[in-house]
Amino acid sequence: MAINLDAFWMPFTANRDFKKAPRMLAKAKDMHYWTPEGRQILDGTAGLWCVNAGHARPRIVEAIARQAAEMDFAPPFQMGHPLAFELADRLLKYTPEGLNRVFFTNSGSESVETALKIALAYHRVRGEAQRTRLIGRERGYHGVNFAGTALGGMGPNRKMFGSSLSGIDHLRHTHDLARNAYTKGQPEHGAELADDLERLVALHDPSTIAAVIVEPMAGSTGVLLPPKGYLQRLRDICDKHGILLIFDEVITGFGRMGSPFAAQHYGVTPDMITAAKGITNGCIPMGAVFAKQAIHDAFMQGPEAAIELPHGYTYSGHPMACAAALATLDIYDEENLLTRSSQMHAKMESAIHSLKGLPHVVDLRNTGLVGAIEFAPRAGAAPGRRAFEVFLGCWEAGLLVRAAGDNIAISPPLIINDSQIDQIASTLEKVIKQIA
Ligand SMILES: Cc1ncc(COP(=O)(O)O)c(C=O)c1O
Repeated sequence: MAINLDAFWMPFTANRDFKKAPRMLAKAKDMHYWTPEGRQILDGTAGLWCVNAGHARPRIVEAIARQAAEMDFAPPFQMGHPLAFELADRLLKYTPEGLNRVFFTNSGSESVETALKIALAYHRVRGEAQRTRLIGRERGYHGVNFAGTALGGMGPNRKMFGSSLSGIDHLRHTHDLARNAYTKGQPEHGAELADDLERLVALHDPSTIAAVIVEPMAGSTGVLLPPKGYLQRLRDICDKHGILLIFDEVITGFGRMGSPFAAQHYGVTPDMITAAKGITNGCIPMGAVFAKQAIHDAFMQGPEAAIELPHGYTYSGHPMACAAALATLDIYDEENLLTRSSQMHAKMESAIHSLKGLPHVVDLRNTGLVGAIEFAPRAGAAPGRRAFEVFLGCWEAGLLVRAAGDNIAISPPLIINDSQIDQIASTLEKVIKQIA
């Protein structure tokens, strides 16, 4: 049966190009996808940085089915259901110490908006309502809602949408090919770029700044690791000026770095963490904001019958998402998946860096089960063409990778084995050698 492709306006996709030659996925299990024709594809991207325990895990599938039959939906405003409380409490086992209050959302974008609204309201309830300025970073990605778009730092994602929010500023990005190309793990150079925040503080006055949001490791822009010392320096400057520090861990949360969160991996604790994706292994949309107790408690002051934070979603803490998340956490625990990235780090590092010297490659980056290959842009062509052609070549060769500008990003499910990592490297090598 031929499907009419016209009606579906696809997200973040070159619609006309795609519909001329569709790349369809129809089935998934563990480390693999299958196309409708039955071609097997190795998943080098954990779906979209979310299927950390691999696809179609029976435990999660059964938990969702059971919950759908038991109670499909419960209103989250002025009502509760036990699984949401159980999940929030269970999540504290994984969050950095002190981040022990949990607000549920349905996506990374919603987590970002939620954390930023909490930051603004937090200052307000403490009598500092003038702290309204929000700071992001160039090349950051914080989802696609208004604040996330404004605070994000990827030009093409911003320019279509007018002047966006006011009262926003950006730190410089930390990518420095000249000094850090081919670094294994965290780059040596660039901690001083955190001092950009002092520059913005001097410009705007600290009394006007509510929060800084950064990805501890920038993922969507093509995997930029924080230079050694950078995150701690940001933390120190925020502390000095009473600015909240938010880590956007939508990608890095739930084991991607080798710890439950990048905050633990890098030893720097923010005031809030935004999460999504791996929280349910990508099975059911869900996100969360983890906040320090002092932030939560600042709201618990007025009349007890008053709603303290007028914010939330119809599907905050959806029963099926909670069931999926609890089953996901069981798998993460039983298979030690949240630390597996650190065990696989050396294997992934040697696989990624084996690509050095291939045509057009200008940088290779890695951490845990994350890798990136950066290509020189092709003269006269649209940016990112080479990386996109590598993505297409890999797809033809049975491997799903992600093109991000001039980069290919690799972020497989955390259950990947050595020979599948070898398959990723050898497929990439073959494809890269073929592109002009
Ligand atoms: C760091 C970061 N923040 C936010 C988002 C947005 O998440 P979602 O697409 O679930 O809204 C993403 C998505 O990739 C992300 O990587």
